[in-house]
Amino acid sequence: MSKFDFSDQSTLSSTRLDIIILHSQKGGPGKTTLSCNIATELARRGNKTVLIDLDIAQPTIQHIFHIEDENIKHTINDVLLGETSVSEDVLNKTHDPNLFVIVAKENVEYGEGLLSMLEDIQKHSFFALHEMTKFLLRMGFRYVVYDCAPGYKLESVNAAAIADARIFVLRPSTFSYEGAKQMLNDIYKKLNIRSSNFFVFNQLPPNLKKDSKSLLESWRDGIVELYEPEKINFLDFLPISHEIMEMGIKGEYIFPEHDPLYEKLTKMVDTVTHTIDEMKKAKLKE
Ligand SMILES: Nc1ncnc2c1ncn2[C@@H]1O[C@H](COP(=O)(O)OP(=O)(O)OP(=O)(O)O)[C@@H](O)[C@H]1O
Ligand SMILES: [Mg+2]
Repeated sequence: MSKFDFSDQSTLSSTRLDIIILHSQKGGPGKTTLSCNIATELARRGNKTVLIDLDIAQPTIQHIFHIEDENIKHTINDVLLGETSVSEDVLNKTHDPNLFVIVAKENVEYGEGLLSMLEDIQKHSFFALHEMTKFLLRMGFRYVVYDCAPGYKLESVNAAAIADARIFVLRPSTFSYEGAKQMLNDIYKKLNIRSSNFFVFNQLPPNLKKDSKSLLESWRDGIVELYEPEKINFLDFLPISHEIMEMGIKGEYIFPEHDPLYEKLTKMVDTVTHTIDEMKKAKLKE
């Protein structure tokens, strides 16, 4: 007996799974916040969606979706380590019947244990991510959103390699900008095979002075120039929301519909899904 009710046969074995990843060079710009909200919005629009925590050393998705330890059968760690084949046991339900999550867990002793686990995960991750894609297609998923670890971790880079859309998240700071340019140049431009690339600045302070605003706009243009305009899309400048910060105190991260961030989120989701659609249509014509 299946653990889940996938009785809607029309969605079983989808032939189209779109892979979206969120990544950054530095820690903390808002990948997890945006991943959770993008996945929630895709599901709200009726798409069978799975959100996967790929930040093995500092996982968060389990807590954001309030999933109890006793309900978790397998984590992404088990899959990436090759300790289990991908099955329904990795999927966790959420409040939305269209949204599932796969959690990560720091369930090893720290020190040597953690280091050797991370090394093993890096070794297996490319194969494991391909297995995951095949499994999600079989299960009828339409979108998968990977919340990556920051930086050059191999599993994040491997997810970037198989993604249809890569969303790069930056803070409005010189560190974030310099780091982003470095990563986009060193890695993303070299993985320029079949993906759409996007970037978004998050956590802008309110009432920016004119010169700060101009500087941010010059960074936006600098990134587009660096990458080639037709290969990367600027999504938005997202403001810091005090409401979201306060909600975080209570463990809530999903943007309420009245928050200005929600409207910006819906536009981002429109752009990303539409761009993937166009890219795949063009590919079919080739
Ligand atoms: N636009 C925003 N307004 C207010 N708070 C925000 C916003 N975006 C993110 N945050 C807060 O900033 C903090 C960092 O966000 P988040 O955890 O999503 O970043 P991250 O890129 O996933 O970090 P890490 O690299 O550590 O995984 C969180 O406390 C989150 O609630
Ligand atoms: Mg995160």
